[in-house]
Amino acid sequence: MQHDISEYISRDEPLFSAPVHVDFDMTNACNLACHHCHAASGRRQHDELTSDEIKHVIADLHQNGVIDLTIARGEPFLRPDLSDILEYADSCQGIYTTVVTNGTLLKRETVKKLSSNCRGINFNISIDGSTPDKLDILRHRKKRDNDKKRQLFAQIIDDAKAISDAGLTLGVSFVASGMNADDLENVYDMAVNELRAKSVTAIRFFPAGFGKNALNELVLKYEKWEKLF
Ligand SMILES: C[S@@+](CC[C@H](N)C(=O)[O-])C[C@H]1O[C@@H](n2cnc3c(N)ncnc32)[C@H](O)[C@@H]1O
Repeated sequence: MQHDISEYISRDEPLFSAPVHVDFDMTNACNLACHHCHAASGRRQHDELTSDEIKHVIADLHQNGVIDLTIARGEPFLRPDLSDILEYADSCQGIYTTVVTNGTLLKRETVKKLSSNCRGINFNISIDGSTPDKLDILRHRKKRDNDKKRQLFAQIIDDAKAISDAGLTLGVSFVASGMNADDLENVYDMAVNELRAKSVTAIRFFPAGFGKNALNELVLKYEKWEKLF
C-alpha cells in the first residue's frame, strides 16, 4: 500500500519550529592567519558575548527546537570559557554540537577535562594539507620557514590524536581550493587511518573575507570539485 506524505503532516503546523542548523560565532580572535579565511578573523571584538550570554542563547536555541549547532568563526579555543560552554551545550539533550577548531590549542590536559564533561560533542579539526608544507599553503598567508611549518603540523596532528585517544568524536574538515584540492585524498587517508576520524568533510572554497584577496589561486572550478567526489 502506498502512503501519501500529507497523511503525516498537519497543514496547520510548520514541520520545524526553528532552523535545524545554527552556526554560532563566539569570537573573532584567531592565532592563525589563513589565506582563505571567510571570517577575516584575527582580533577579538570588544563586544563579544559573555559566558552567561552564550549559555542563554544556547538555552534559547534548545528550547526552540534547534538540533544541530556548530561553533566556529575565529578560533573557539582562544576563549578560556570554551570547555564550560561546551559542557553546557552537551547537557542540552537533543542538540548535536560540533566545535570547529584549528587544533593548535587543545593541550592534553584540556582534552582530559573535555573527555569527562563533553562526551557528546563532535570535535572537528581543520586539516587542509597532508604534510607541513601543504598545510601551510592555506594556514599562513606569509611564507614561513620549515621549522615553523613542521611545528604547526605536529601540533595539529597531536591535538587530533589526543581527541581520538580520549575516546571523543573526531571529525576532519578540509577546504578544497585551487591551491590544495589535489591533496584531499591524502588527507582523507590520514584522517581515517592515522587519526581515527569518524568523519571527513570537504568544503569547497567560497570567496569571502581574506579569501577575496587571492581569488585567482583559491577558486576551485566546478568541474574539478565535481571530479573530487
Ligand atoms: C573560519 S574557521 C573557524 C574555526 C577554526 N579557527 C578553524 O580554522 O577551523 C571554520 C572553517 O571554515 C573554513 N573556511 C574558512 N574560510 C573559508 C572559505 N573561504 N571557504 C570555505 N571554507 C572556509 C576553515 O578552513 C574551517 O574549516
